[in-house]
Amino acid sequence: MCGIVGYAGSQNAAEILLDGLKKLEYRGYDSAGIAVMNNKHISVNKVTGRIENLCEITENGRSVIGKIGIGHTRWATHGSPTDINAHPHMSNSGKFAVVHNGIIENYIALKQELINKGFNFESETDTEVIAHLLEMYYTDDIKKAFYKAVSRLEGSYAIGVISTDEPDKIFLARQSSPLILGVGMGENYFASDVTALVAYTKNIIYMDDGEFAELTPDYIKVFDWAGHPVEKPINRITWDIQAAEKGGYDHFMLKEIIEQPAAVRAAICPRIKNEKICFDDSGIDKSTFTGVEKIIITACGSAYYAGCCGKYIIEKLCGIPVETELASELRYRNPIIDENTLLIVLSQSGETADTIAAMRECKNRGAKTLAIVNVVGSTIAKAADYTIYTLAGPEIAVATTKGYTTQLAVLYLFSVYFAKEKMLLNDEEYHRLLTELKDLPKYVEEAIDMNFNISELAKKYCNTNSIFFIGRNTDYAVALEGALKMKEISYIHAEAYAAGELKHGTIALIDENQPVVALCCNEQIIEKTVSNIVEVKARSARVIGVSFKNNEKILTVADDIIFVPRVDGLFAPIVEVVPLQLLAYYIAKEKGCDIDMPKNLAKSVTVE
Ligand code: M6R
Repeated sequence: MCGIVGYAGSQNAAEILLDGLKKLEYRGYDSAGIAVMNNKHISVNKVTGRIENLCEITENGRSVIGKIGIGHTRWATHGSPTDINAHPHMSNSGKFAVVHNGIIENYIALKQELINKGFNFESETDTEVIAHLLEMYYTDDIKKAFYKAVSRLEGSYAIGVISTDEPDKIFLARQSSPLILGVGMGENYFASDVTALVAYTKNIIYMDDGEFAELTPDYIKVFDWAGHPVEKPINRITWDIQAAEKGGYDHFMLKEIIEQPAAVRAAICPRIKNEKICFDDSGIDKSTFTGVEKIIITACGSAYYAGCCGKYIIEKLCGIPVETELASELRYRNPIIDENTLLIVLSQSGETADTIAAMRECKNRGAKTLAIVNVVGSTIAKAADYTIYTLAGPEIAVATTKGYTTQLAVLYLFSVYFAKEKMLLNDEEYHRLLTELKDLPKYVEEAIDMNFNISELAKKYCNTNSIFFIGRNTDYAVALEGALKMKEISYIHAEAYAAGELKHGTIALIDENQPVVALCCNEQIIEKTVSNIVEVKARSARVIGVSFKNNEKILTVADDIIFVPRVDGLFAPIVEVVPLQLLAYYIAKEKGCDIDMPKNLAKSVTVE
């Protein structure tokens, strides 16, 4: 989705803005633009397509002179991706330039009001109303006009404004869209996320909803909704720019797949101290989950599929009913929730609009909320009663990999912790599970090493039009994620099916052109899945079996085999998903797809 960035300092702003925009490319966009202040004049450059186009028309920013500016990558919502609809948008007099991330829900009424008052609209965007509202309310105090303009907006926004009348300032406001401030020496920054700023500063202020800010080269001031100053802590980022760069890999996705053992280690190991799981970094203690009678897990996309694995794991270990529901469905339902319900919210970005809305709805109904989130300081992380960070580091590829596996890692930790608190594990079993948990990074590494030559298999299957992923129990939950990975980056139709359901309709689609990936890592029900393999083979399907090393049963029935290390069945999902990520990656590579930025997709889905 859209990304915004801004700079006020002593360097040439355009070059820094373009660099920041490039770092935000991964969020997904279709046009981009910058506005730079020069001698009380704002020069705007904006184009459709890649940031490269913007670099080209500005000689990499060198031809745009000025030390204060704002920039934007647009993912079209209101109006098609054209140069005119690209941000920044100007007020009619040319006094104000605006960039905006989010959606102004009441823009039609505002637009009509402004047109009636004589304002001319150039674009089809919702954002342009902000520029004209500023002009309408401005007499001699921009801050006042900004407050008034923002008070008219309904919806979500992170807004950056520059004005020729106060040419050394940037005005900012945040509501339900990410916005962070970067603190430098004689220069300051803002952006939608840390990746755009980490090359320049590691000192970050996270703005909260309802806050405004004024940013100049010399200071950053944050205000609340009433205009009172707010003291904000400065947070130190612990990772550096290399973490957000490809580092020699062809794609971020591959780099992030390879990073999974380290990411899983970072999520698990610091939380096992003296042979005990502790979440002291999350404020969770013995009494936190007392009285919990039901758990609901909600999320979107892959995070939801991690939650589907979580359901099996928590119910097995903790003996407590778990429901999983897509956030986009949960938010519009009338869920039965009370103070004995624990809502677990999963999100890599912490900014997914539907997930935020579902969480707020459940919180209002009395649920305790536990967020499992990667991005520090994100909306979900802040809004939850308790937050466990997945500590995966920046994830740039749109298709999540280490984001997903670290969510699983934290769900495992949580389940073992909760089961122990509920006195459902004796010491021996607890220590056995702790040992398994500590070994997970090693198993994930083995799963990568064992599938080094999966690119050969990818060559064999890359021309298919459709792939089925089947499995039972946790294997089915992982099949859902395997199918999503395949769809989103290779554009091959893929469908996950509970293996036992095939006979109830879907088997009609099986023929020699229909490859089936059969997940068989859950030992309790392998026999049953093997029977389903035999059934699809009888209809001439080609079967890729996924199972642990040397599983004879699979060897005899599948056409091709993907092996993963043998682990306790409960932990199978975190290893069996790895070859599925690699298979999707190499098939997409064979097909020449844009792996890190698949068409129509955005990394962080900040609109409904
Ligand atoms: O940031 P989140 O984890 O909340 O994002 C949820 C989904 O949008 C995300 O997992 C999406 O499905 C990924 N592109 C899948 O790879």
